[in-house]
Amino acid sequence: MSEQHAFAVLRALSDGRFHSGEAIAQQLGVSRTLVWQAVHTIENDFGLAVYSVRGQGYKLAEGFEWLDVTAIRAGLAPAAAEALTVAVAERIDSTNSQLMQHATSSDLHGLVLAAELQTAGRGRLGRRWQMRLGSGLTFSLLWRFDKGLAGLAGLSLAVGVALARALRVLGAPVTLKWPNDVLLDGRKLAGILIELSGEAMGPAAVVIGIGLNLQLPGEVDQPVAALDQAGVRVGRNALLAALLNELQQVLDAFAKQGFAAVREEWLALSAHRDSPVRLSFSHGEPIEGIARGVADDGALEVETAAGMQRFHVGEVSLRALS
Ligand code: BTN
Repeated sequence: MSEQHAFAVLRALSDGRFHSGEAIAQQLGVSRTLVWQAVHTIENDFGLAVYSVRGQGYKLAEGFEWLDVTAIRAGLAPAAAEALTVAVAERIDSTNSQLMQHATSSDLHGLVLAAELQTAGRGRLGRRWQMRLGSGLTFSLLWRFDKGLAGLAGLSLAVGVALARALRVLGAPVTLKWPNDVLLDGRKLAGILIELSGEAMGPAAVVIGIGLNLQLPGEVDQPVAALDQAGVRVGRNALLAALLNELQQVLDAFAKQGFAAVREEWLALSAHRDSPVRLSFSHGEPIEGIARGVADDGALEVETAAGMQRFHVGEVSLRALS
């Protein structure tokens, strides 16, 4: 059973109503057995519940809103609509990997790629990023800056501010955990993976990848949150447009003023300000202290027994002490 058939059957079922196996088979020009197999793939591989009722056919437990370029663009503010080109992929290895290829092989700027399903989604620190089909957003944005890699310090924090702005307007009281997690009730709602290509002083291309949970995924190795837990009911296309509107604004401000443009806002959103924290490194002993803030270059400022120390994006994790 190919996933392609499963996607086609899922599209036929996405209105959340009953459809007979025969009608779907006719519509798609395939056998009823193939439709039945596709329903199994939808349940077992995609993790979606399908009711099967004799005499009525198949029905998704919940309707499914597909990502749709026209619907996303309809929600964009004029400045974002001008700056961004939006594309949607049904199934792709990783939106970040795809846009990283464009980063080096083209001069495209403002390209957004969202995916229904990533087969090799990547998280920070070499982790995998998995999301059940339709239960969240996975997308990346390719952006170019004139200032060179050195001028991009704090970019991941600025991206967090953009996401928080959009999510707070929708009613989710999110906070930010350094360097770049978006939290809801202290649990991870969204993650950001930023990848860079360019030179220290020359122009730089940046791929900003974002994964955000709308409904809780299955088993995961860390405490996670989903937007519906905050009572936010928003369609995936409208949500993506809202996030892109804020990202475009923040990235424009960042291009002009760097992280300083949103530093105060980041501090106000910080989940750990003036709290005891422990920073763990991939090598070496963890450090404990009180998180005091962030510098203009996005470095975390921690008051330790040895005095105020600064830590840069990338190698550290942050944990509140119990
Ligand atoms: C994290 O570890 O917190 C970052 C997760 C980033 C996941 C997103 S999903 C869209 C984009 N494509 C990827 O392969 N990863 C990012």
